[in-house]
Amino acid sequence: MAKRIVVVGSINLDLVAATQRIPIAGETVAGLSFRTFPGGKGANQAVAAARVGGAVSMVGKLGADAFGVQLRESLEESNVNTEAVEVVPGSSGVALITTDPKGQNAITVVAGANAQLFPTDIDANIDLIRSAGILLTQLEIPLATVDYLAAIAAQERIPLVLDPAPARFLPPSLLKSVEWLTPNETETCILLGRGPQELSENLTEDAANALLDCGSRNVILKLGERGCYVALSDGTRQLLPAYSVKAVDTTAAGDAFNGAFAVALMNGLEPLESASWASAVAAISVTRPGAQASMPTASEVDRFLEESRSAKSTQ
Ligand code: ATP
Ligand code: RIB
Repeated sequence: MAKRIVVVGSINLDLVAATQRIPIAGETVAGLSFRTFPGGKGANQAVAAARVGGAVSMVGKLGADAFGVQLRESLEESNVNTEAVEVVPGSSGVALITTDPKGQNAITVVAGANAQLFPTDIDANIDLIRSAGILLTQLEIPLATVDYLAAIAAQERIPLVLDPAPARFLPPSLLKSVEWLTPNETETCILLGRGPQELSENLTEDAANALLDCGSRNVILKLGERGCYVALSDGTRQLLPAYSVKAVDTTAAGDAFNGAFAVALMNGLEPLESASWASAVAAISVTRPGAQASMPTASEVDRFLEESRSAKSTQ
């Protein structure tokens, strides 16, 4: 039987206001609409992987509130196993998200129950974690837990995909246990101690090399509509341009990418093929509103790839 993808991470309810323009500090703008969506980087990656056919288990924490019930249902509807998702007293995690018509967003995350996912929870689920074919995590849970998971992944030789989001500086001891580091542009700059900024095109390769020097075995820089830059420990360096789509909401594009990338690797695809397939999954996700709600199924991805091949051949 194929091994499972195990995601250790956050689960949030996203409270999303669509606006004409994301407000600056001190400014009030009129919202165009308000919706709630199941989100959280961990849960989004779990749903992304499960929708495209991965066998996925989630390790996480929910609050004892109505949001928690809704969030578990969303995971289970997508066939994510939630036996290792525990309910704790207090509130579930929430994310306050403002989007604009170009699909850009600004996000404030309140950790709630996610802050209570401790190293002892890794111990409590150690058999599940040790049995994983690949482990996915992010930084919306305590760093001590990510660090502990990374040490176990290294010890057990299970590839760990770390999405270093939200951005923060990480110790080299942690990065050395990471097989796949997948920052976006801002996260790349913060990891390198350069402060939040966009990564200009001519600095992309340097930044990827600098991140490899920090210790992780492979790096994939997620560059939004520019695509992704793959830098492998075998010396491969390649920019994979993004699929051309009309973005309506880029929230969780990175999560779509990571979940799909893990499934592709588990299916035996090579890293570049896996990143290319994950780019297609992420491109579809930006054409739809919401986080988990935007994740495509495997047959939707097949159709999208077929359409983009035939569009290319008629050009
Ligand atoms: P998020 O934090 O919203 O989950 P991210 O900032 O981690 O996302 P991005 O670089 O924005 O990650 O997007 C991840 C991948 O999604 C990109 O590498 C690209 O393949 C795809 N993608 C993102 N935006 C677009 C877009 N406008 N058009 C096509 N593909 C996109
Ligand atoms: O990556 C997107 C996610 O970040 C949203 O779903 C939100 O919950 C925040 O955690």
